[in-house]
Amino acid sequence: MRDNFERAITYLRISVTDKCNLRCVYCMPEEGVPPLRHEDVLSFEEIVAFTRAAVTLGITKVRLTGGEPLVRRDIVKLTQMLSGIDGVTDFAMTTNGIYLEKYAQPLVAAGLHRINVSLDTMDPHKYTEITRGGDINAVFSGLDAACAAGLLPIKLNCVIQKTPEENDAQQVLRFGLSRGFQVRFIRRMHLASGAFSTVIGGDGGDCARCNRLRLTCDGLVRPCLFSNLGFHVRALGAREAIRQAVAAKPECGATSNALFHAIGG
Ligand code: 5AD
Ligand code: SF4
Repeated sequence: MRDNFERAITYLRISVTDKCNLRCVYCMPEEGVPPLRHEDVLSFEEIVAFTRAAVTLGITKVRLTGGEPLVRRDIVKLTQMLSGIDGVTDFAMTTNGIYLEKYAQPLVAAGLHRINVSLDTMDPHKYTEITRGGDINAVFSGLDAACAAGLLPIKLNCVIQKTPEENDAQQVLRFGLSRGFQVRFIRRMHLASGAFSTVIGGDGGDCARCNRLRLTCDGLVRPCLFSNLGFHVRALGAREAIRQAVAAKPECGATSNALFHAIGG
């Protein structure tokens, strides 16, 4: 699948829920988000059927995101269903790590390859502030469990204010290096104003080389994080929704009214 700018579309990010057990200040409103109606959320069967269709069209890399993917009920079962699809050569998850201690081993057994874990600071108090209540020690236990289970390579996603030279970022980098984790810095973005930037040490945010499509938990195929366009899987069918989303991929991101928790970062 190529889009109108000759970019090969090979990477599908699936947001399995817009809920989260944290409330990061840059991502979620403090009060959380109004619940979607149960019937509006794609079932596992729908997600798997969509992914199969996407793979026949050229997707090879799949990432589960949220919200927080580990708060979706039976996420291990979904992981197992997706890992059974031939043609997915890279199968990852982005998680805040809070529930990883419990889930790392079952996720590996279900066929997940690797994870990215969000960590913006090494300071327990700051972590609790940024996440509005999270316990950093749960993340550390989660990372230990992920190492033990072999969910490798582990990458840390570190949101920075301005530069990777900031103290918090440097401390996360040192911790990451000491444990053999890759560290990627992501400048804090503001979707509504179109303020976005490339991921330092990763490949997000580089429009010229964008290879992504996104599936939201309520069934929209979104061509770009910084666009309000979405094509409904139930209305159009998977193949047609994908075709239209690929055709609608903008050359470069603009603005969006959405919040990160709804589209998976
Ligand atoms: N700016 C940059 N990154 C964000 N994320 C969420 N909101 C923002 C934002 N406003 C990213 C974080 C987190 C992932 C789930 O989403 O990197 O690790
Ligand atoms: Fe949850 Fe991740 Fe958003 Fe934080 S950034 S509120 S952990 S989805």
